[in-house]
Amino acid sequence: MLRALEIKPDVYWVGGIDWNERNFHGYTTDRGSTYNAYLILDEHVTLIDTCKPEFADELIERISDIIDPARIEYVVSNHVEQDHSGAIPAIMERAPHAKIVTSSPHGLKGLAAHYGDAYEYVSVKTGDILCIGKRTLTFTATVMVHWPDNMVTYSPHDKILFSNDAFGQHFASSKHFDDEVGLPEVLAQAKKYYANIVMPYSRHVVRALGALADADIDMIAPSHGVIWRSHVPEIMAEYARWSSLEPEEYAVVVYDSMWHTTEAMAHQIVEAFIEAGTPTRLFDLKANHISDIMTEVLPAKYVAVGSPTLNNGMMPTVAAFLCYLKGLSPKGGWPGRVGIPFGSFGWGKNGPDEVAESLEKCGFDLAFGTLTHQWTEDEEGLGQLHEAVLAGLGR
Ligand code: FEO
Repeated sequence: MLRALEIKPDVYWVGGIDWNERNFHGYTTDRGSTYNAYLILDEHVTLIDTCKPEFADELIERISDIIDPARIEYVVSNHVEQDHSGAIPAIMERAPHAKIVTSSPHGLKGLAAHYGDAYEYVSVKTGDILCIGKRTLTFTATVMVHWPDNMVTYSPHDKILFSNDAFGQHFASSKHFDDEVGLPEVLAQAKKYYANIVMPYSRHVVRALGALADADIDMIAPSHGVIWRSHVPEIMAEYARWSSLEPEEYAVVVYDSMWHTTEAMAHQIVEAFIEAGTPTRLFDLKANHISDIMTEVLPAKYVAVGSPTLNNGMMPTVAAFLCYLKGLSPKGGWPGRVGIPFGSFGWGKNGPDEVAESLEKCGFDLAFGTLTHQWTEDEEGLGQLHEAVLAGLGR
């Protein structure tokens, strides 16, 4: 028997726990995830979001712990992506007269594309309200955080923001509140989530936070991970900081290497940053997943990426990282951030040159130029590299 959890009077968490999810669209989720849905018991019973299709039975069993699912009158779909809308058909099978509330126009189009137009849809825009009894739900579009259809639902009666993907974390746990699982781990997962899903749309996050500035919120109920009830100001502040894209004095050095010369260069660049007093982390792409590296790129003022030349180009591991970085780079690039392409070569320096081209396309300033070394490393060459980095840092 699966249970619902009352998170406020007559508001229940009824989601699914995906303990073994380890890869979400190429993002490693070492703590699994949850697909949170929320049931509001009022004059008109309302379900906020659903879950992945394969968790539909779990969702229905948790709802059935409280009411007969046939009593659901409204399904608010804050987001079309299937981890939140995938169980709509299963819910509608049990509550065929329910109305589906979604954003206009993209939620409406997206749901119709996925599930057909046989259901009764109610489309809403920012500022629209839905009276479900003693509660009046209000809707705010959060366009491109992170799909065009995204919206959030606010219940002033409960002071709950049902934020869907925003403020989420891929974090499965038997406890459901931020104060029950340890803030550092939850914030770390929220940061990884932001860097790997939300980061390119930071401008839109700023706009969404502005639209919610006047709402009296004492609980944020996202669609992934734990519910924020004790640390709402902290996660709000983190979102404001992350979405500002203000760089910190911090360097990330990422590389792959064939015969250790690019590796030696990477270590030398780290040493130069250490000498300059800039906190630094080194990532060998053979040992680190690109989604973990991206979490560190989020605050980094300096992103150094190294590849030797292989087959007249950069190494495929480096190309994959740069492809991922390009996709997650904010529209408008990375103001105030420096990309540092580097790498070794034998007779053609296309490897490091391709890294430079990619970093430029991501929107980094290549103020240090492209740092290269021909053939194997030597003390003199590494010394010159060290000095070049210090010179770039104004030392
Ligand atoms: Fe959690 Fe955009 O889906």
